[in-house]
Amino acid sequence: MTKPTKVTLTFDNGIEPIELPILSGNLGSDVIDIRTLGKHGIFTYDPGFLSTASCNSDITFIDGEKGLLYYRGYPIEQLAENCDFLEVAYLLINGELPNELEKKQFSSTIHQHTMLHDQLTNVFRGFRRDAHPMAVMVGVVGSMSAFYHDSVDVLDPILREITSNRLLAKVPTVAAWSYKYNIGQPFIYPQNHLNYAENFMHMMFATPCEKYEPNPVLAKAFERILILHADHEQNASTSTVRLAGSSGANPFACIAAGIASLWGPAHGGANEATLKMLEEIGDVSRISEFIKRAKDKNDSFRLMGFGHRVYRSMDPRAAIMQRTCYEVLNELGLHNDPLFKLALELEKIALEDEYFVSRRLYPNVDFYSGIVMRAMGIPNSMFTAIFALARTAGWIAQWNEMITNPEAKIGRPRQLYTGNTRRDFIPVDKR
Ligand code: CMC
Repeated sequence: MTKPTKVTLTFDNGIEPIELPILSGNLGSDVIDIRTLGKHGIFTYDPGFLSTASCNSDITFIDGEKGLLYYRGYPIEQLAENCDFLEVAYLLINGELPNELEKKQFSSTIHQHTMLHDQLTNVFRGFRRDAHPMAVMVGVVGSMSAFYHDSVDVLDPILREITSNRLLAKVPTVAAWSYKYNIGQPFIYPQNHLNYAENFMHMMFATPCEKYEPNPVLAKAFERILILHADHEQNASTSTVRLAGSSGANPFACIAAGIASLWGPAHGGANEATLKMLEEIGDVSRISEFIKRAKDKNDSFRLMGFGHRVYRSMDPRAAIMQRTCYEVLNELGLHNDPLFKLALELEKIALEDEYFVSRRLYPNVDFYSGIVMRAMGIPNSMFTAIFALARTAGWIAQWNEMITNPEAKIGRPRQLYTGNTRRDFIPVDKR
């Protein structure tokens, strides 16, 4: 059967039918182009964007049915196996993998921008001692527009590149320092001879009195975590970055908005929530109790790290993360880690349960990432901050694509108004 190229919208009250074109991408579902409907005074209703493509994009492709994830056409499995994070960031932002020279130059540029403006330490010190690292990150990344205002003209491609480099280079420093501040240790400055992953681990774990030598197996696993989280097409935080940026807002503020959106437990906050859940379950004998709660419509509890809006089969990132989990636990001699065993058993039971099977709920990337990071000595409160630093690469790529897309317009959804109809003001003494 040939694919349809247009669709006709008919009305039951005699209004003339409206013909709408169907657009095809290079992969994935076709979409009905409804842009002209507004001119007819007709709008569509789709809370949560269940059926709406908000933009066209060349960056990331997901096939939720088959469990496929491609960055710029490359399968995530190949990138996670063969690349370092900066290569993947370059790919996302520029569209192609760098050649040797480009890789060297890009890496050198990023490493030269890792230090923060010294006065930014005052912004950190303004937070309460026990502030959550994500709260600090939202604030500090947003405040970077006040420190790097020489590069916020979004219409200038050179300045856009400088801002992109600054964000990619400095967000790990912000993330690591938000942790150091939280635990009351001095900020550790970046070491530019280390690679991106090692440098972050160094800023997290070194102290002025003790050198930290990153373990290469753990650094490689950390690199993989960053690659797996680097982009995921039009999710909530990426759409937030695009929407914020559609008004011409400066990119530091847009990325801060993305970090805020990512923080929620339904999105990037799920890795922290998954580990808390596993700790709460505590023992294999209590799994059935929690599975029962997850299925109970009167209980708000959900199995964290399970389910996804797009994936209706295994999240390919979860499979890679599970393997990484084995590698890291073996390296650290923690192969009998009780939480990992609990997670494996929970996954097995859920995947055989009719409720999860019929709704096609599978483990997502967050199910195993918390266990890996915990084994590396990273505290729960930093999990989402690390997700944010990885996703900064994707946010920058998506923001750049939005800014340079000739079709881009300020994002301005319509609504279905359900409030009061017109009524007259009543003075306060008569209300
Ligand atoms: N536990 C129990 N039931 C669930 C779960 C879960 N984790 N996820 C979905 N369901 C049920 C839900 O109750 C609904 O059932 P019914 O049809 O009977 O009403 C059905 O499955 C469909 O769920 P939905 O909420 O309509 O699906 P959604 O696409 O709006 O939500 C989700 C996707 C990821 C927010 C959701 O699956 C969830 O809350 N998962 C737990 C949080 C989580 O792990 N988030 C990380 C997502 S991956 C990383 C990222 O993108 O940031």
